[in-house]
Amino acid sequence: MAPPVRRRLAPSLLSADFADLASAIRLAELGGADAFHLDVMDGHFVPNLSFGPALVRDVRRRTRLPLDVHLMIEHPARYLPEFAAAGGDTLVFHLEASDPPEEVLRVAAGCRAKVGAALRPETPLDAVLPLLDRLDEVLIMSVHPGFSGQSFLPEALPKLERARRTLDERGLATELAVDGGILPATAASCARAGARFFVCGNSVYGRGEVAGNLHALREAVDGGSG
Ligand code: DX5
Ligand code: ZN
Repeated sequence: MAPPVRRRLAPSLLSADFADLASAIRLAELGGADAFHLDVMDGHFVPNLSFGPALVRDVRRRTRLPLDVHLMIEHPARYLPEFAAAGGDTLVFHLEASDPPEEVLRVAAGCRAKVGAALRPETPLDAVLPLLDRLDEVLIMSVHPGFSGQSFLPEALPKLERARRTLDERGLATELAVDGGILPATAASCARAGARFFVCGNSVYGRGEVAGNLHALREAVDGGSG
């Protein structure tokens, strides 16, 4: 019998109170989070700024859960080593950034971290297919990167389905992640489409109680097919 599919919830700290991240981390851990997602933005690749390796390092000191670091930055190859040294477990670069993906993967191979590639909504899945066997994660963006709290773009669903099919056909264990506008309803659709890693910002930290919010998301992602 095939092992049960594991679906993981990764609260995005971008939606938490930056002045009280320790509480945000603790509450999510108690609520059953599987990882944390950290959104790094440079004001160039996306029109917003967030934080850099110093914050990743401080979060690292507060939790043992894996840190999924989403690099919405130009020149990811230049910064990868710093984010690995800061304690990022998976470093996710954007295929659309100016560094050639081959160069980013070459630098990543020298870092003690896993590597992932992210695709903006308008980037076709084909862009990542030749790299799949060298990636630990593929992150499909279901909003335009830069801000939390946006609405889910349903174009992500056929992309997830095709990515899932391709990974299964090739027998790859690459994590399939979705990021942006994930609420219980959209999470359930993404789970049916084959996503296994769910980045959740506003739906965890926006309003209501963190543990309750995570519980609703858990039910949604595990409610469909096993
Ligand atoms: C958006 C970021 C997301 C963001 C998600 O650019 O990549 O990780 O924090 O937030 P929600 O879940 O609110 O869309
Ligand atoms: Zn993100």
